[in-house]
Amino acid sequence: MSNPTTSPVVPEGITRQWPILGEAEREAVMRVLDGGVLSGSLAPEIRAFEREFAAYIGSRHCLTANSGTAALHMAVAAAGLGPGDEVITSAFTFLASALAVLHHNAVPVFADIDPATFNISPADIERRITPRTRALIPVHIHGLPADMDEIMAIARKHGLIVIEDAAQAHGATYKGRNAGTIGHMGAFSVQSSKNLSAGEGGLLVTDDPALHKRADCVRQFGEEAAETSLAGADPNRPLDDMRDYNAVMMGWMYRMTALTAAVGRAQLARLPEFTRNAQRNAGYLTSRLSGLELVTPPAVPADRTSVFHKYRVRLHPERLEAGLDPRRFRNAVLRALRQEGVEAVLWQVTPVPSQILFQQQNGYGKGCPWSCHNSPVRYREESYPATTKLLENSLVIGSQSAPLAGQDLELMRYYADAFEKVLADKDSLIRAARG
Ligand SMILES: Cc1ncc(COP(=O)(O)O)c(C=O)c1O
Repeated sequence: MSNPTTSPVVPEGITRQWPILGEAEREAVMRVLDGGVLSGSLAPEIRAFEREFAAYIGSRHCLTANSGTAALHMAVAAAGLGPGDEVITSAFTFLASALAVLHHNAVPVFADIDPATFNISPADIERRITPRTRALIPVHIHGLPADMDEIMAIARKHGLIVIEDAAQAHGATYKGRNAGTIGHMGAFSVQSSKNLSAGEGGLLVTDDPALHKRADCVRQFGEEAAETSLAGADPNRPLDDMRDYNAVMMGWMYRMTALTAAVGRAQLARLPEFTRNAQRNAGYLTSRLSGLELVTPPAVPADRTSVFHKYRVRLHPERLEAGLDPRRFRNAVLRALRQEGVEAVLWQVTPVPSQILFQQQNGYGKGCPWSCHNSPVRYREESYPATTKLLENSLVIGSQSAPLAGQDLELMRYYADAFEKVLADKDSLIRAARG
């Protein structure tokens, strides 16, 4: 283990806290306060954010929402999914990809990942399709697009809806197209840790006017709000739109506030710069870490770009031939890197279906209407070896409050130096992992 009496490789005070906020965000907030319109789906800031994000991403329609999870749920509801319908998503994702399915009493089914990209494996999707499968939710994990050609081909073959979970992938491209615009709908998060951050919020995009209209109803009480009232609406009094108070379907209250939209617009203007920064930093780390025996940097296939929302490296304790437990080795490396001042973290520690929610004897589930408890899928009996292995032997460089997108190259130099130092001291790592 690195000697705690020597000073850490990474000097204090050079890590930049995320999100990076400045004069533009301050002006945006003041603009809303001065205008006095804080909310309403027709509020000028809301409409402008939707227009600008749709133009940026290359989609015909965009709806703001108050979280990425809400945007995903709007998509699930707009797709017409319901009780008993199976929706295949990745075992390696944030829980929200599956929760959005449960929110509509449909059944999440998990597929394992491709160990090279960490994204859902098309071959494993095929294996898990049943006559009840209605939709796929591929997740562009860590900002790298999933295998969309293969996924869309499976969807066409089986007549499935595709909802892209692009919560981590604003501006990532697959064969020249933006992640989130390839399936029938795409959902993004603008929660604070994301590359596009506005505090809390979400964005749903689609080219399909019918899906857009249904998702808009779901967003606000099941009413056909925006479309019917647009003609007579005064944008400065969006709460006085010509609402007909007549819900046409089950709805929720998922609207974003105008303050959030204004901050989101300011951050959107800087997103290309943040993306370039993340890609430059990741490229540098990859070039330095590629030469190290005990670590593999993340792969990016030639047909797509990653926005490196997270930079995950895989460790190779097996190369030490010391019979080490991979989790203990990972924890030893994590501790040593943190001692050197690297913002190294774990993000997700088990496949999502291993979470207590999906286990039948969890003490919370009895009498609970969640469909997973009466589900035809027996989560306890399923296994996800590629996801499990990845989570055992990998860690993420850059924390939620200090991701790569916001950092200077100088910090990456220190991070790479710290990796070299920590991984060179094999005896200490072996001792710590056996400890
Ligand atoms: C892959 C993924 N899906 C969905 C979400 C949900 O987004 P939110 O936190 O905005 O609800 C997140 C982020 O938290 C995420 O990382």
